[in-house]
Amino acid sequence: MRKINRISIIGAGNMGGAIAGGLFRNPDFPSGGITVTARTQSTLDRMKAAYPEISVTTDNPAAVSGADLVIIAVKPWQIKEVIEEISPAADCGRCTVASVVAGVSFAELRQMFTVAPALLRIIPNTAIALGKSTTFIARDRVDNETAEEIAGLFRAMGEVVEIPEEMMPAGTALASCGIAYALKYMDAAIKGGIETGFGAEEARRIVMKTMEGALALMETNGTMPQTEIDKVTTPGGYTFRGLEAMEGHGFSDAVLQGLLHSM
Ligand SMILES: NC(=O)c1ccc[n+]([C@@H]2O[C@H](COP(=O)([O-])OP(=O)(O)OC[C@H]3O[C@@H](n4cnc5c(N)ncnc54)[C@H](OP(=O)(O)O)[C@@H]3O)[C@@H](O)[C@H]2O)c1
Repeated sequence: MRKINRISIIGAGNMGGAIAGGLFRNPDFPSGGITVTARTQSTLDRMKAAYPEISVTTDNPAAVSGADLVIIAVKPWQIKEVIEEISPAADCGRCTVASVVAGVSFAELRQMFTVAPALLRIIPNTAIALGKSTTFIARDRVDNETAEEIAGLFRAMGEVVEIPEEMMPAGTALASCGIAYALKYMDAAIKGGIETGFGAEEARRIVMKTMEGALALMETNGTMPQTEIDKVTTPGGYTFRGLEAMEGHGFSDAVLQGLLHSM
């Protein structure tokens, strides 16, 4: 039997709104069981227009009262105030609280609650809006059955990777910030395409389709990128010379430094 029937999302911004949308589209979850909150009525009006069956309110304590799962999706500097507000109203002995707030640890979250509930940290990326997120989940004192049910809800919005808390910074860098890094490569390639004579829209489409092809090769063949690179690289040939120039300008090191600096 399902344990999670009522979910309240505190903060219906980019991330909270996308999660609400994903839950709303999940045919296995009752849309009437979703409540979202925000500071302003205009945000809530937008949510209600997009997802008519969900409940919306600016009253955080009322939203969490009776919820089985509370998802906190506010900015890091807003979380303390939100937890202090909801802590007395949430049934912390029974409900699970999930924070999508990057960089706030379980230890810090526990300190903010008067009675600490079972906790999850969840880090999706912006592709969650399209059901294509890579989402990391770490848990603290959440039983296996509840954790599996919540992971299942996020699996409907993309790939779920369950990790210990100490891997959260690395996961955040690789997939949450990482979506921007993947886009940064494509941005550079599009600019290069324009520089070499293509129109902007033409270059955009060519780079997107090239990425799609590269992904399909890895997926279909079950390969690491280097295996597919080797197939198109002849010593001294065009691709070889291009890759040498990229590495000569620090390509792989630049990517690694980007990851290390976002942890
Ligand atoms: N964006 C990402 O790619 C990403 C990825 C992983 C994790 N995260 C995490 O997700 C969190 C939210 O980021 P975001 O990009 O979604 O921010 P955002 O778009 O600014 O959304 C924040 C939302 O919180 C609401 N809010 C603020 N104070 C509130 C309060 N006291 N009670 C209820 N709602 C309140 C805001 O309401 P109003 O709209 O009315 O102002 C807004 O809707 C961050 O902590 C971030 O670390 C983001």
